[in-house]
Amino acid sequence: MMFREVLPATVSELRTSGLFKPDHEVTIVRDVEGRIRVIIGTRSTTTALLPDAPTQQAVEQGLRRRLGAWLASSPVWVDDVPPSPLPKAKPEKRAAHLALDLARQSRVPAPWRTQAGDPVWFLLERHAAKRAWVGDVQPQPPWTIEDVDAGRKAPVVTFFSHKGGVGRSTALVATALHLARANQRVAVVDLDIEAPGLSSLLLSAEPTAGALDYLVDGGVVAGTTARDVSALVSDPALVESGPVLQVVPAGPVDDAFLEMLARVDLQDAAASSALAERIRRLFVELDASFGPLDFILVDARAGLHEVAGLMLAGLSHGAVVVGTNSPQSWMGVTRVARLLSAPYLRDGKDPRPLLLVHGMAPSATDPRHEIETRSFRTKAYDELSAHYYPVGQVPGENEPDKPHWPITVPWTTELRGGGGLLTPPIVGVLMGAPYRALTQRLGKLFGRTIKTSGAGA
Ligand SMILES: Nc1ncnc2c1ncn2[C@@H]1O[C@H](COP(=O)(O)OP(=O)(O)O)[C@@H](O)[C@H]1O
Ligand SMILES: [Mg+2]
Repeated sequence: MMFREVLPATVSELRTSGLFKPDHEVTIVRDVEGRIRVIIGTRSTTTALLPDAPTQQAVEQGLRRRLGAWLASSPVWVDDVPPSPLPKAKPEKRAAHLALDLARQSRVPAPWRTQAGDPVWFLLERHAAKRAWVGDVQPQPPWTIEDVDAGRKAPVVTFFSHKGGVGRSTALVATALHLARANQRVAVVDLDIEAPGLSSLLLSAEPTAGALDYLVDGGVVAGTTARDVSALVSDPALVESGPVLQVVPAGPVDDAFLEMLARVDLQDAAASSALAERIRRLFVELDASFGPLDFILVDARAGLHEVAGLMLAGLSHGAVVVGTNSPQSWMGVTRVARLLSAPYLRDGKDPRPLLLVHGMAPSATDPRHEIETRSFRTKAYDELSAHYYPVGQVPGENEPDKPHWPITVPWTTELRGGGGLLTPPIVGVLMGAPYRALTQRLGKLFGRTIKTSGAGA
């Protein structure tokens, strides 16, 4: 049996055992290796009795036959203790009690559908990595979403894509320039630390330090500040007469950079609250030392990377997702949509702002333009209806201000093979209609009016 078959097999086996009543609570616990345990409890000691020892053995044997090595040792637990402490209990009993208490706190209602006669299902997954992506990280941005939504504080916006090379960093830079020219105070932060790209676009000189320095130094000395790792862009060719654009590059990619990278556990980013705390502090310092800011735009690593997950699930107030019309890219959209919706709906709030960008789309003159943009739009609507909008509050398909309505950024010859400095012709393209539309929609999603120059989008 393969990992992906284990959970359905467990549920099916427990169902066919016929031992459980609707008043039983059955918690399936899957450990970090994927092995299964079940905890059986009851809501009513009259209709659903706790299983006695022979019944427990029968459950274990059935599961063993079905799951083989995927069943943990001592796999069947009975939740027979009241949820208050037992001061006089023996140490073993107290340990079991604590484990059961912990399970009760961390389990979630099972995501599969309940069938007639089922017990109340719960699931408890133990994760070793990718914790933000599977919902282990709670939103804890540097300032509250209420402050952002009321216009008191800058939104921290994560730019994400499931794959690299789709124009994510380019879109971020274009957005930053549009915002700056519209008189917005903007900081951009490159957290795509293993594949930095922002500084080569925005900075004419190699930076002396960056986000990685801040993350590593901050663990040892308190002295390194956001100012020490920022570069300011005031070139009128880029920002015209707007306020300076503040750039926190990943850092100069030299020997020290690799040695620092080898010391930051990005893999463990979501699990270690220390790294999250330092990133949070970086945003707070940026806002305090150059601010108050209007927007913080963060370039996050592509794919299911820990830092991207941490940013999306825990540290930002909204996201821009750049995708192409490919199945992998849609998988990424689904994941992000859930991270920006589920935890907030649970708290009775609205989903956080999300903006979809259809990157590298066929240009308007390309015969495939119409078909592909329409197909992207339909898919976007289906995905967000299923994974983002609250049930019963799905907007109509033809509502161009809603998150499912993508911004189309066509493939442009001028940008091909770019990634170097922003020459005037490239700045010309970045200041064009698609990126202007992106900027205005982003503003609108956060309730800001952005007066971009040039003709309307
Ligand atoms: N709209 C576009 N049309 C054509 N090429 C583009 C476009 N946007 C970006 N590029 C080019 O594609 C490459 C990857 O872009 P980049 O923004 O670095 O992508 P990502 O950050 O997603 O990896 C760069 O060479 C860039 O100049
Ligand atoms: Mg990039």
